[in-house]
Amino acid sequence: MQTEQTRATETVDKPVIDVDDPEACKACHAGVYEEWTESMHSRAHHDNDPIYGNMRALRMKKQGEQVANQCVKCHNPRSPSAPDEPAGKVGISCAACHQVKAVHLEQGKVGVETLVYDTDGVMHSGRELPRDASPVHALGAPLAAMQDGQTLCLSCHNATKTPTGAPACTTGPEFKSSALSKGDEGQTCVSCHMPEVEGAAGAVGRQEKHRSHKFLGPHRAWYQDDKSILTQAVDMDAEIKDNTLHVSLKNKSVHAFPSGFPGRMVVVKVVGLDEHNNVAWENFTENAMKESPESVLNKVYHDKEGKPVAAPFAEKMVRDNRLKADESRSLEYVVPDNVKAFKINMLYFLLPPPLSNTLGIEALPEAKPVVFMSKDVMR
Ligand code: HEC
Ligand code: HEC
Ligand code: HEC
Ligand code: HEC
Ligand code: HEC
Repeated sequence: MQTEQTRATETVDKPVIDVDDPEACKACHAGVYEEWTESMHSRAHHDNDPIYGNMRALRMKKQGEQVANQCVKCHNPRSPSAPDEPAGKVGISCAACHQVKAVHLEQGKVGVETLVYDTDGVMHSGRELPRDASPVHALGAPLAAMQDGQTLCLSCHNATKTPTGAPACTTGPEFKSSALSKGDEGQTCVSCHMPEVEGAAGAVGRQEKHRSHKFLGPHRAWYQDDKSILTQAVDMDAEIKDNTLHVSLKNKSVHAFPSGFPGRMVVVKVVGLDEHNNVAWENFTENAMKESPESVLNKVYHDKEGKPVAAPFAEKMVRDNRLKADESRSLEYVVPDNVKAFKINMLYFLLPPPLSNTLGIEALPEAKPVVFMSKDVMR
């Protein structure tokens, strides 16, 4: 016997759209689609992100073609065996997250190895919706790994190691070490990176608000001229007492600052001006790491010869001077008496300048830092 109900279910269980094409979602979920196109998730394929693309190419050259098989697990989860197929080109697409029916985080497994995908066209979200609420795809049971705002994210954003076993990306453990991530009221990845914004998710949304799919991150400062996530990361204050300038930093990001890709670097630049507004003192002039290493929040890796090198080619990590989760730190600079005013700038680098050169992207805007926070102090 065929009722209306079962016929509808049969139809949506065979999707009438290409679920791996985010454009196919646009007609009904336009708001979310537009946001996602601004996110790094939509640029995760090697042709769409020069930093990733060139690093992948360099690693394949130096470490062998099989390196690429590692990257696809997180960068092209919907087409890991053929990342250049359309389903791989779209990176972390809608289906990469919404067709997931379970997440099994296990030691040593990452990305697609931890994601259990449902049959094509069965979408899951944090909500309980009728299976046939959509005319073009089915809706499966709510995904607990999405509801908790973090487990799904941690399948790719937990922790990775370099080939020699040194820590590379460590956002997951950093987050878990924060007091603010604990308990029922604890912050989650989604609370900061997918804040609730006004408006329905698209033509079909029932809610007045939805979770932003811009996946706010530092790249927005380059691609959307939006530094807001960087200014939320840290509080900066400064005062001058006797002959010492105290610059206090407080990490508000519930993981290390800067987190993520091990090349990220934040530099505190202080310039002291005399009564004629001429530069009378600087914490460094050319090389911050040599002249004022405490002003640089970064990780440093060395190769076998003890020379600084990008994480994937390193023997070991020799420094982690980033702000830890929840950390407050005071940087102290002894300054000459003729300095009457200070200009403090915080600079964010997606990658350190030597690495831009190694990757051959030194002429791209991504190789230049952005100033995301400034302060003037009078004596
Ligand atoms: C023809 C319109 C249409 C298209 C195209 C469409 N959907 Fe939907 N979708 C719906 C409707 C209707 C709902 C149910 C909304 C409701 O009842 O709140 C829905 C619900 C969803 C939900 C659950 C939303 C929630 O509120 O929890 C997700 C996730 C989803 N769709 C993903 C997708 C993806 C991914 C695509 C593209 C591959 C897509 N949809 C294409 C109509 C569509
Ligand atoms: C465990 C999942 C995972 C794997 C495997 C992975 N990545 Fe990534 N990658 C990420 C995530 C997540 C980011 C975003 C930054 C962060 O959190 O570290 C990223 C960012 C990057 C970036 C920075 C891109 C930018 O625009 O600044 C580079 C470079 C990169 N990955 C290279 C690679 C290469 C090359 C491989 C394969 C050898 C690889 N990744 C494998 C998850 C992964
Ligand atoms: C990196 C994972 C990820 C990707 C990629 C992603 N989403 Fe989502 N989506 C989420 C999460 C997490 C939520 C919030 C779930 C919750 O808390 O109920 C969500 C919610 C939604 C909702 C419900 C509206 C809301 O926020 O309440 C819709 C509709 C939706 N997504 C559609 C899409 C479409 C269409 C795309 C591609 C253009 C997409 N998503 C890409 C993770 C993702
Ligand atoms: C309290 C808010 C907050 C929470 C909670 C939070 N983040 Fe962040 N996150 C930030 C801020 C602010 C930045 C920008 C500063 C930076 O890059 O470290 C950031 C940066 C990032 C980046 C960019 C790293 C890169 O390489 O460019 C990633 C990836 C990230 N967070 C993932 C996560 C994940 C995954 C979780 C959950 C396990 C999480 N965040 C929880 C605020 C938060
Ligand atoms: C299937 C793997 C995967 C999942 C699941 C995933 N991400 Fe990502 N995410 C990535 C990769 C890969 C990148 C880096 C892409 C690049 O830079 O080329 C990234 C980048 C980011 C960034 C950095 C943006 C920037 O400007 O640098 C943020 C923030 C982020 N993801 C948040 C999240 C959140 C929140 C979730 C969970 C709702 C999530 N991600 C789930 C793989 C994933």
